[in-house]
Amino acid sequence: MSGVSLPKRLMVFALVALLALAPSVLLVQAAEEPIVIGVAVAQTSNVALFGQEQVIGAQIAEEFFNERGGINGRPFRLAFADTGGDEAGAINAFQTLINRENVVGILGPTLSQHAFAADPIADQAGVPVIAPSNTARGIPQIGRFIFRVSAPVSLVAPSAVKQALKMNPDIKRVAVFYAQNDAFSVSETGTFQQTVKDLGLELLDVQTFQTTDTDFTTQITNVLPLEPQLVIISGLAADSGNLVRQLRELGYKGMIVGGNGLNTTNIFPVCQALCDGILVAQAYSYQYDSEINNAFREIYKAKQGKEPPQFSAQAFTGIQVFVEALSRLDKRKPLKDMDLVTLRAELRDEIMNGKYDTPLGPISFVETTKDDGTPAGGEIVQERFYVAQIKMDPDGKTGRFVFLD
Ligand code: ALA
Repeated sequence: MSGVSLPKRLMVFALVALLALAPSVLLVQAAEEPIVIGVAVAQTSNVALFGQEQVIGAQIAEEFFNERGGINGRPFRLAFADTGGDEAGAINAFQTLINRENVVGILGPTLSQHAFAADPIADQAGVPVIAPSNTARGIPQIGRFIFRVSAPVSLVAPSAVKQALKMNPDIKRVAVFYAQNDAFSVSETGTFQQTVKDLGLELLDVQTFQTTDTDFTTQITNVLPLEPQLVIISGLAADSGNLVRQLRELGYKGMIVGGNGLNTTNIFPVCQALCDGILVAQAYSYQYDSEINNAFREIYKAKQGKEPPQFSAQAFTGIQVFVEALSRLDKRKPLKDMDLVTLRAELRDEIMNGKYDTPLGPISFVETTKDDGTPAGGEIVQERFYVAQIKMDPDGKTGRFVFLD
């Protein structure tokens, strides 16, 4: 008989058994925890006029896809980090999500201006990024891990100018305004100005402003004596909305084409009744008839009491891409068996290789290269774009985007 008592021997046995089981116990626990997807958009500052719509779209996607079983039965959760309104905030949000939240990928940021600062950090860390609203030229070319579901200005913007000509074929004289301190606005005005030339119109004048400006009297009084029939604006929401309001107050009566910065009902409190008539190109139509868009539209309307806007639909789409790519990857290589570095790298390739039936329509990604020919990220391939016109109600407070043919 050994000198060790029975209870002690039982305790040793239990301890050995527990240690032997520990790794699988840990794996099972890890596998039951939700997968974490980061969302780094602007929840504060003027940029939140877009960011608020993105938060709603992402939250609807979280609820919608988790109700349908998440990632092959495993739930996911969104970790939100507010970028605020500047590059430092975007970098901070990305670092928090990558290093503290251990996210598998990031949806964000809201502005192209912020993407050029923050995306290189995710790319170097090997973390897939899906931009939900960055439309400037060169976003996927930032790096291999960078994707966007927001079609670039070059594809979307020209259709609004063509629509203005369709509605008023007499238009010849055009003036352009753009925010010179914002990467997207600079990129978009390049496309607009090229479109004006390609359509044989006369570019009377180009005026610049800052996204922080609130008074545009100088620029407007420079332009009005030239008698433009069409004014085209590239800026963010509050600045562009104020510019529209002041153009009308100072007597401009012609058509206004707004860029992506005017593509939100959050400008209505800024230009109010004077928002009426603005033409804005769209990468999404709530009228698009498909199972997934009808489902998204119904949920959005039930929650918000209005039709879903482009920024919400694109954010929903970005989360959908993550969820579907993760689900496919999990079937090929179980997520629970991969460390985070491997999972992020595998996810990058899975996103690139997929096709997605989204509220934006069927989309996929095409590989891009940097200027020096090295492989870069995924540019969206999307079939259809639209143009809508703002119609304000008589109260000047509420209104809607009405889609045109
Ligand atoms: N489309 C805008 C941008 O790219 C919001 O910054």
